[in-house]
Amino acid sequence: MIKTFSSRAGRLSETNKFYLHKKSKCIFSEKKLIVHEQKVLDIGFGDSYSFCKDIIENNDFFFFGAEPYKKGFSRAVEFFEKNDVENMILFNGDVRDLLEKVKFCFDFIRIHFPDPWPKKKHIKRRLVTEEFLIYLSNKLSDNGLIQIITDSQKYQNHIEEEIKLQNKLSLSKRLFPITYHQSSFYKKALIKKNKIKEFILQKSS
Ligand SMILES: C[S@@+](CC[C@H](N)C(=O)[O-])C[C@H]1O[C@@H](n2cnc3c(N)ncnc32)[C@H](O)[C@@H]1O
Repeated sequence: MIKTFSSRAGRLSETNKFYLHKKSKCIFSEKKLIVHEQKVLDIGFGDSYSFCKDIIENNDFFFFGAEPYKKGFSRAVEFFEKNDVENMILFNGDVRDLLEKVKFCFDFIRIHFPDPWPKKKHIKRRLVTEEFLIYLSNKLSDNGLIQIITDSQKYQNHIEEEIKLQNKLSLSKRLFPITYHQSSFYKKALIKKNKIKEFILQKSS
């Protein structure tokens, strides 16, 4: 499996280390039975700040978050422990490893600002590929939606090409029902005046 994320650990504070190793109720386990109807998967929630706000704001949904970046992950665990939230489960690692373990389908999947890997020699590290889209389609409920947001023009073109290469998912005009706060990457895109593009995908009929 090609690695799609950089190995940055970020400097972990003592608090980060504490929450990174905490046996919190929010940590994913195959044994946990989630009966909630509206399951959301957030792929790569980064520093977790906007992700945590989104969880509070969208408490009709049950969020799963996968993030290999330890600092962001530990902050999300800290958020769970310090706030009265019931609707979040976290996985510290590659989302493809999480998806291998999950037996159910998600109703909504979102990928906000996936690492663009703009250099030619790194293109193979991009997460959104034809193969990954097909894989996600098998983990998406029949009426489900996928939201991908990026400000990278190169990645936007790449995503368009990868969508065309497969036939399990197609572009949708439906509205993605989950509100989101501006993440640090969103704010950076605004400062750079980059065009932020949203792709909404549904299962092809
Ligand atoms: C550019 S950041 C965006 C973070 C966040 N979504 C935001 O909007 O600020 C991309 C994130 O995706 C994560 N990532 C990359 N590949 C991943 C994978 N295979 N599974 C889970 N997360 C991944 C990276 O660790 C990184 O934190």
